[in-house]
Amino acid sequence: MKKIRAIIVFLLMYLRFKIRQCLRKSFKTHIIQTQYGPIKGARRISCWNEPFYSYEKIPFAKPPVGNLRFKDPVPPNSWKKPLDCTKEAPMPRQVNVVMKNVEGNEDCLYLNVFTNDPDPRKPRPVMVWIYGGGFVSGTTSKNFYSPDYFMSENVVLVSIAYRVSILGFLSLKDPSLGIPGNAGLKDQIMALKWVRDNIANFGGDPNNVTVFGESAAKSGDLVKHESKLLNKEEIRNLILFASGPVIEPYVNENCVIPKHPRLMARDAWGKDVPVIIGGNSFEGLFCFPDVKKHPWKLETFKNGEYLVPLELNLDRDSAKPTLFPYLNLLSYKYFWHGLHRTLLSRAKYAKAPTFLYRFDFDSPTFNHARIICCGKRRRGVSHADDLSYLFYNAIAHDLRPGSAEYKTIKSLVGMWTQFAETGDPNIESVTTNAWQPIRNDETFKCLNISYKISFIDLPESKSLEVWDSLYEDDLI
Ligand SMILES: *[C@@H]1O[C@H](CO)[C@@H](O)[C@H](O)[C@H]1NC(C)=O
Ligand SMILES: *[C@@H]1O[C@H](CO)[C@@H](O)[C@H](O)[C@H]1NC(C)=O
Repeated sequence: MKKIRAIIVFLLMYLRFKIRQCLRKSFKTHIIQTQYGPIKGARRISCWNEPFYSYEKIPFAKPPVGNLRFKDPVPPNSWKKPLDCTKEAPMPRQVNVVMKNVEGNEDCLYLNVFTNDPDPRKPRPVMVWIYGGGFVSGTTSKNFYSPDYFMSENVVLVSIAYRVSILGFLSLKDPSLGIPGNAGLKDQIMALKWVRDNIANFGGDPNNVTVFGESAAKSGDLVKHESKLLNKEEIRNLILFASGPVIEPYVNENCVIPKHPRLMARDAWGKDVPVIIGGNSFEGLFCFPDVKKHPWKLETFKNGEYLVPLELNLDRDSAKPTLFPYLNLLSYKYFWHGLHRTLLSRAKYAKAPTFLYRFDFDSPTFNHARIICCGKRRRGVSHADDLSYLFYNAIAHDLRPGSAEYKTIKSLVGMWTQFAETGDPNIESVTTNAWQPIRNDETFKCLNISYKISFIDLPESKSLEVWDSLYEDDLI
């Protein structure tokens, strides 16, 4: 009964969102030239009543269908008449994580541009959003990523789509087939090239572009689907995703991952680029519904042996874990430890600053990812909870401007935009100059973002040290 009631509540909220989205769209349109042809966008009103323009479903590559399926993206054909860019693009073809049905469209290589002023006096910083979803799902849909909160800022916001799952990440060894893998990442690169070449026409500064993302979009996890790297249990337990980024089996002109990213990080161009990186205080909560449904998964790590990272090639053959300690382990295994390895690499090799945050804002009503996956009664800040404070979405209720949730949105969006504009996320209203980059010679410090915002030693450091102790230093 409770479940049905919850579903009905969600449906009603969704319906209300859709109706409002229609009401907030005006008939006023606006035409902009792009390198492939003119496009027509729509004027809208944000949930905070700020007017802005949206240009959606702009093609940046030929539809990857027919002979182009699985292949690296190719530039689109041009057009003459203004293209209708007033409506959302379909999501990439994927299996719905909850319902398990297949949805979306293979013809999906589109991007969206949002700005409150397409003709500003001074070109504006550009922020490009790349969605997460474990490389098997994801969409730019406004149901999840409506640009409203950013439309109070002087930035151009872009969201880009890429192919996911097998359509985006099939990798075949035979060079004559022309499918080395990572097509989904190459989609992202092609979209970024479009931004470089066209964003000035939307008032954006092509020399001032910041990329941001969540989960898959920032983890850079590698799927090692070669059989020798997986043992039988892992294949059976489906610990790893069915498809995702790979080290490409051969190098051609479009190759993005020629060797292990750990090695690439040592001399990547990213070393010279400032970075914000962070996680949520209870990432593993995300796995709650899954483990509730399949309690046998509590056994997946055996007595701890299977927690040992695969890349160490150790032999992985003692007390049964219970639900919450297990979810806590997942926080480290799937999220924080990888993030920490990245921090160590940045601390050692990067020349530009790395700002670390820890999102710990536990709202009873606005942490949508947790509410969807664990119900209203559970607390803790789950994987993806931070998204509710960057993007308006279909189940976000109206916020009182004095509320803690509203303030958190203002702080997060404010700091992220400031970072895009200057390379330093500190703003007067939140941190002044308190948020400092990580340093090699001390415990990593992070911005603890909660009801209060404070700069503290990363509380997870002690546990992370244990995980790190499995590694030799030269694995950074
Ligand atoms: C963007 O422009 C500002 C102001 O000129 C500059 O401080 C900042 O470093 C630029 N950011 C990038 C990514 O170029
Ligand atoms: C993070 O900030 C919140 C709110 O100020 C606080 O309750 C929490 O204890 C902080 N976390 C740590 C580890 O200090």
